[in-house]
Amino acid sequence: MLKGIIYLLMSVFFMFISSILFAADSGYVERSKLMQNIRLEFSVLARMSREKIEFDESLAESARLNLLKLAASTPTIFEDDDLPINSEALPAIWENWDDFVSKSEDLEFVLEGVDTSTLIDLRGSLGNVGAACGSCHQKYRMN
Ligand code: HEC
Repeated sequence: MLKGIIYLLMSVFFMFISSILFAADSGYVERSKLMQNIRLEFSVLARMSREKIEFDESLAESARLNLLKLAASTPTIFEDDDLPINSEALPAIWENWDDFVSKSEDLEFVLEGVDTSTLIDLRGSLGNVGAACGSCHQKYRMN
């Protein structure tokens, strides 16, 4: 529980700092922030499933719901095709827009199927999420 609160405070703090640092966000910065938030939430579930942190149903469920929201906002945030040198996004995203959007919807779909009621259920359903991240990265992110 305490870990949950610390985690929450830290993410609020980082969101606050990044909103100051990147007041006028370019498309790339928005994308990068979105993906970093996705990683943050996903790592809560991944660490829980590997017992690096204690299983906590309400924390797991809130991470899942946050991930759902972030996944749902992906197409809108990626509409801006700004490609500075440090971006890892591939131009293929905007050439295959419908496919990119469907990969983003795949992530929402598998998140709907994540069961956070017990550690065993979480473990059994989380693999699909990692696969959905990988399937989009493989095609649309530089490696
Ligand atoms: C629909 C496609 C798509 C899905 C699904 C997706 N990503 Fe990404 N991700 C990208 C693209 C494209 C980039 C590169 C963005 C850029 O650099 O402009 C990226 C970048 C990232 C980055 C680097 C961010 C940075 O700039 O530091 C992380 C971390 C990341 N993704 C994690 C994840 C995780 C974890 C998941 C699954 C829970 C996931 N992503 C799902 C497309 C996707």
